[in-house]
Amino acid sequence: MRIAIVGASGYTSSELIRLLVSHPGGIDLVAVTSETYPGVQVTRAMPNLRGYCDLSFESFDLDALRDRIDVAVLAVPHKVAQDFAPVLLGAGLRVIDFSADYRLHSADDYESWYKSQHTTPDLLSQAVYGLPERYRDAIRSADLVANPGCYPTSAILGAMPLVENGFVEPDSIIIDSKSGISGAGKKADEKTHFANRESNLTAYNIGVHRHTPEIEQELTAAAGETVRVSFTPHLMPMTRGILSTIYATLRRPMSTGELLDAYFTRFKAEPFVQVLDAGEYAQTKAVLGSNNVHISLEVDPRVGRVVVTSVLDNLVKGASGAVVQNLNLMAGLDETAGIRFPGLMP
Ligand SMILES: NC(=O)c1ccc[n+]([C@@H]2O[C@H](COP(=O)([O-])OP(=O)(O)OC[C@H]3O[C@@H](n4cnc5c(N)ncnc54)[C@H](OP(=O)(O)O)[C@@H]3O)[C@@H](O)[C@H]2O)c1
Repeated sequence: MRIAIVGASGYTSSELIRLLVSHPGGIDLVAVTSETYPGVQVTRAMPNLRGYCDLSFESFDLDALRDRIDVAVLAVPHKVAQDFAPVLLGAGLRVIDFSADYRLHSADDYESWYKSQHTTPDLLSQAVYGLPERYRDAIRSADLVANPGCYPTSAILGAMPLVENGFVEPDSIIIDSKSGISGAGKKADEKTHFANRESNLTAYNIGVHRHTPEIEQELTAAAGETVRVSFTPHLMPMTRGILSTIYATLRRPMSTGELLDAYFTRFKAEPFVQVLDAGEYAQTKAVLGSNNVHISLEVDPRVGRVVVTSVLDNLVKGASGAVVQNLNLMAGLDETAGIRFPGLMP
């Protein structure tokens, strides 16, 4: 399967190239487009790839691309992806979109959360949400895959067994997430500037973060009843990693062991989701650079709540590792090819 990355000079793309140049076979990265660096060698912008990638960036040109590739991966911001996806699909290519443009089923939801009109709402019904742990079979044959957001992946996988089994009140879920700064992309602004982030911690977008409807959509589908969440993201003074702490009220008294058993059962066949034993706590460094999600939990019987923690690397399982997992499925390869390795610790 021949791949091009569109908008390839950013962080998710850099991570995707890193993973694809080590892929064991069946997926070939043949083109990387960039409007910032046309004609420039990839290794000039991404020095970590020296010795592994001899591609140069090229300006996007559909006529120059269409016969060379099977799948285009859009590594551009939301709204911009809507300019590319219909054109690429119309040329008979398959598309994976990193952005949020095709994740929500409802154009109205998109417009109210993203404050922007959806220009290709007809494509929403054909997009498959790219979370293999729920939609593996549909991803295999999809033409348009909406790769999940980084916060949503940690929150949805962390809460999924709770709602699938009806263990918790569906309107009681609180998701408190902490993220490294690379989640905001490569361009620094006042919010992400080193001087404002180093030794600093802040919440942001309380009640209005755009990942909220995506989390609710997927947890509602998993629950079979409406799920509403309070989602509060925080920026951490670190480069990569997300830790989501998920609080929910139990419908009946349950022990930590009983809930852990349900989590072990739910994820035992999942190659990239590891449930930790009782008494262990998930930590971001244990998954750094890997496609793994670690989940730990405890019941707090005094208040009748379960507290789940879920960690991942926002650039790997939260973005580019998930793209490789989806590409493997779309190509009919082993889903773990090229992404089965542990985190970098310490
Ligand atoms: N960072 C994360 O942890 C993360 C996780 C999950 C999903 N995502 C999503 O993945 C996508 C890429 O994120 P990123 O972190 O890689 O962002 P980034 O570092 O800012 O890179 C985005 C790239 O998109 C291209 N681009 C930017 N503005 C554009 C415009 N107006 N028109 C056309 N191309 C434009 C640029 O590529 P060229 O200059 O090379 O053309 C830019 O390098 C976003 O939709 C983001 O929401 C990010």
